[in-house]
Amino acid sequence: MDKTKISDILKKKDKEKITMLTCYDYSFAKILDEAGVDIILVGDSLANVVLGMSETRKVSFGEMLNHTRAVAMGVERALVVADMPYVSYQKDPKECAYYAKKFIEAGAQAVKVEWFRDCAYVVKRLIKNKIPVMGHIGLTPQTVHLLGGYKVQGKDEESALNLIKQAKTLQDLGVFSIVLECIPYQLASLITEKLKIPTIGIGAGNKCDGQVLVLYDLLGLYKKIKPKFVRVYKDFYCEIKNTTLEFIKDVKKRKFPSRKESFSCSKEFSR
Ligand code: KIV
Repeated sequence: MDKTKISDILKKKDKEKITMLTCYDYSFAKILDEAGVDIILVGDSLANVVLGMSETRKVSFGEMLNHTRAVAMGVERALVVADMPYVSYQKDPKECAYYAKKFIEAGAQAVKVEWFRDCAYVVKRLIKNKIPVMGHIGLTPQTVHLLGGYKVQGKDEESALNLIKQAKTLQDLGVFSIVLECIPYQLASLITEKLKIPTIGIGAGNKCDGQVLVLYDLLGLYKKIKPKFVRVYKDFYCEIKNTTLEFIKDVKKRKFPSRKESFSCSKEFSR
């Protein structure tokens, strides 16, 4: 099985839609990889859906690194992208290459960075260090406090033009694709047309070159919020809860484990 390369993702533009899902552990990574998803993103949404934190910027570098390593162990084919956590590039942009290299050593083939004031500096530095970069514009959760909250971005002309400028800047700096989060589909379509590199949308309509969802949203596992753009393909929250209820019932009624599920020896032990 051939490992997906950055060049394979670039070639899909205008030919085939790109699929990307977030993932945080070995077992899920193996399933997504076998199913054939193109890109597996170890998203910093880890903070919310796995670690129960309120903001993505609270996740540590160590936490992201451990989960990246676990995901990479389960992947043979898909391209693995590690999300750079806030602390690894926005706090001190000069340190970005040091942290990004650790993600590559842990098994990622690329890193993702969200747009922020010093984004161009960071992307330049990473690419100079031969680290492939995916950009992320629109609703950027790490700096959500500067965007007026979790709101659709680029609705008026000024902010739309600003997002087009950010996308072009990132392309010129050499990123291999850009996530467009929570922007009107008309704007996402225009940005997609203007760029040579693929766009991957989340809450950005179906004209993007690819689509990404947070795995725990797709599987209905994360119930705290459900944005309009999420499609829950199957409600595993209920499946898991019902399975747990069955286990509890069986244990309480002494139905689990059965003889078949127990070890035996030739001797009966007496007191
Ligand atoms: O962290 C994440 O899950 C993401 C996706 C929403 C693109 O950045």
